[in-house]
Amino acid sequence: MENNVKPRAGFGTAIGVLAATLGSAIGLGNIWKFPSLTGTNGGAAFVLVYILATLLIGLPVMISEHALGRKAKADAITTFRKLAPGSAWWLVGVAGVLAAFLIMAFYTEVAGWVFAYIVKAIGGGILSTDPEVTSAAFANLITDPTQSLIWQWVVLVWVAGIILFGVSKGIERMTKRLLPLLFLLLVVVGIRSITLPGGGEGLTFLFKPDFSQLTWQSVLIAMGLAFFKLSVGMGTMITYGSYFREDQNIPATAARVMLADVAVSLLAGIAIFPAVFAYGFEPTAGPSLLFITIPAVFSSMPGGSIFMVLFFILAAIAATGAMLSLFEVPVAFLNERCKMSRKTATLVTFALLALVGSTAALSNSSMANFKLLGKTMFDLFDYATSNVLLPVGGLFICLFVGWRWGYPQVKAELTNGGKLNNERIVRAFFGIAKIVTPVLVLVVLLNGLGLF
Ligand code: PHE
Repeated sequence: MENNVKPRAGFGTAIGVLAATLGSAIGLGNIWKFPSLTGTNGGAAFVLVYILATLLIGLPVMISEHALGRKAKADAITTFRKLAPGSAWWLVGVAGVLAAFLIMAFYTEVAGWVFAYIVKAIGGGILSTDPEVTSAAFANLITDPTQSLIWQWVVLVWVAGIILFGVSKGIERMTKRLLPLLFLLLVVVGIRSITLPGGGEGLTFLFKPDFSQLTWQSVLIAMGLAFFKLSVGMGTMITYGSYFREDQNIPATAARVMLADVAVSLLAGIAIFPAVFAYGFEPTAGPSLLFITIPAVFSSMPGGSIFMVLFFILAAIAATGAMLSLFEVPVAFLNERCKMSRKTATLVTFALLALVGSTAALSNSSMANFKLLGKTMFDLFDYATSNVLLPVGGLFICLFVGWRWGYPQVKAELTNGGKLNNERIVRAFFGIAKIVTPVLVLVVLLNGLGLF
C-alpha cells in the first residue's frame, strides 16, 4: 500500500454503495445535459441510441471499473500500477484526472446557473409561460460576464469549502438522502407537463424515433452522454469500487445504478418536452432548454413558485454530489502523487479551476468569439471530455479487463470468489467488455470524429 493512502474503511452497507454511486452519477447530466442534447439531436432516435450505448458501453465500463477498484483497493492510477506493474496502463488514470478537471471547468458554470436560478426563483421574476420572457431572463444571466463569473465562484467556494472543512462525507450523505425527493418532484412536474394542452407532441418527440435525423455525430454525442451520465471512463468508479465490500454484488449494483440513472433522465425529459411543445419553445434551444422551460411548467402549477425554488435547490444538491466526486479526483491526485497536504491540494485545484473555468464561464459573453477548433471554451471542454477523453478511457479500461486482466481474475472478482451464483452473467459481461464494447467505442469514435 502506498505510504499516503489511508486504509479503506469500506461502505457499511450494500445500500450505502448503491447510494454513493448514484450520488456521483445523478446530476446535471440528467436534468440539464440529457434534455438539451435530446432536443438538439432530434429526439427519440437519439434517446434510443443513448440507452443502447448505456447498456452496451456505459454499464460494462462501470462493472469493469468497480471490479478493478475493489480488487486493487486503490484509486485509478495505483490500481493499474498494482495490477499491471511496469506497464504504461496507469496513464489511463492520469487521463482521468485531466478529464475530471476539464469537466469541472464547465460543470461549475452550469451549476452556477442553477444556483442563480434558486435566487431568481425566490425573487419570482422568472415565472412565465412566454418563451421570450424566460429566454431573456436566461440570456441576461449568461451574457453578463460579472454574473457568470460570480456564480461560478460561488459554486467553487461551496464545493472547495465542503472539502476543506472535511464535511464532504456528511454532505454526500445529505445529497443521497435528498435524491428521492428530486425524483418525486420530477414525477410531479412530469405529470403537469404531459397534461398541458398540446403536451402529447413532446412525448412523441421523446419516444417515437425518426432515424432519418440520426448522424454519426449524434451517435457519438449519445455515446459521450452515456459515459458522462454514469461517471465512467475516467477511473472515478475505480475509486468507488475500492470502497466496496467483498460481498457486494458488483454486476447487480451497477445495473441498478444504470437503471435509476436512465429513469431520472427520462423523467427529466418527460418534465420538459411536453411543455416545450405546449408553449411553443424551441426543442433545439440547447443548454438553455432546462432554464427556459422549467419556469414555464411551474408557472402553470398551483404553488408553482414554491415548487420551483424547491426544484432548483434539489438540482443544486444533485449537482453538488456529482461535483464532489469530480473535485476529489485532482485533489486526491495532488495529495497522493505530488505529496501535497489535502488542504494545499484543495486550494491548488480551486485556483486552477477558477482560472481555467473562467474561460468557460465567459464563453457566452467576453470570450464568445474566442474559439479553438471552432468551439467556445465551454463547448470545447464539454465536447473533449464526453466525446473523446471518457470514451478513450473507457476503451482502455475494457481492453485492460478483457485482454490483460483476463477471465479467471474477472470471474473471481465478479462472482465474489464463487459465492454468487451469477457465472452466466459474468461470462456474458466478459464477452461484451472484451469485444463488443471496444469495437463499438472505436467505430463510433472514428466515425463521429470524422476520422474514418
Ligand atoms: N454523472 C454526472 C452527471 O450526470 C457527471 C459526472 C461525470 C460526475 C463524470 C463524475 C464523473 O451530472
